Amino acid sequence: MLEQFPHPILLAHRGDLANAPENTLPSFQQAIQKGADGVELDAKITADGHVIVIHDSTVDRTSNGKGKVASFTLNEIRKFDAGAWFNETFKDTRIPLLEEVFETVGKDKLINIELTNYSTPRDGLVDKVCELIKRHGNQRQVIFSSFFPSNLKRGEHLLPEVPRGLLAMPGIAGIWARSFGFMFGEYQALHPHLSDVRREQVQRVHRLKRRVHVWTANQPEDVARLKDWGVDGIFTDDPAIALKALGRGR
Ligand code: G3P
Repeated sequence: MLEQFPHPILLAHRGDLANAPENTLPSFQQAIQKGADGVELDAKITADGHVIVIHDSTVDRTSNGKGKVASFTLNEIRKFDAGAWFNETFKDTRIPLLEEVFETVGKDKLINIELTNYSTPRDGLVDKVCELIKRHGNQRQVIFSSFFPSNLKRGEHLLPEVPRGLLAMPGIAGIWARSFGFMFGEYQALHPHLSDVRREQVQRVHRLKRRVHVWTANQPEDVARLKDWGVDGIFTDDPAIALKALGRGR
């Protein structure tokens, strides 16, 4: 499935994050309109079991609400304005359902779903996400990623055909994930931080016949260097700038 896309694939990190409120429908729409190959998003679950898209474990930074995501029902969390904090023009934007993003992005773009129940690891998020993917029949456009191997293991059990990317923290914290964790795990891709990527590392992963998807490259020179090193995917906050640096600009 990933082979059908240009190399490297360009994934808009939380949508067009540099130009729209992150992880919202306008952000994802703008990213696709600008030509990204797909979007990256952060999946979480509400107190009443709905899968929504938001990065932080609280709503404080990216809405006019206050409190833990896991403490709100869908109706409660949908009352918050998730756009005006970024810019008044996005006023009344809501925290989206994962299913709304599926509909907005359409079937011919990639969706990297980061499974981010890091503060509520037993909340059943992976099972709910897999249920929604089966219902929408979009297994072929989805990638799972997570810093938690347990989430990816569950994803492998429920939807083995969906590629899995192991996220590695920057620096020392990510040494295990970038080495033994990835090497001996059933992952199709390593998702290292930009600061940890080296040409030799890319070559080593390629010798394993696996992929490297790097987060998050925003400077044209970084994007061009990663392309030169042969990485297979790049996450970016500004797809228009990154596409230009890849020679795919409009
Ligand atoms: O998936 C790439 C990147 O989004 C991982 O870091 O903090 O944005 O979830 P974070």
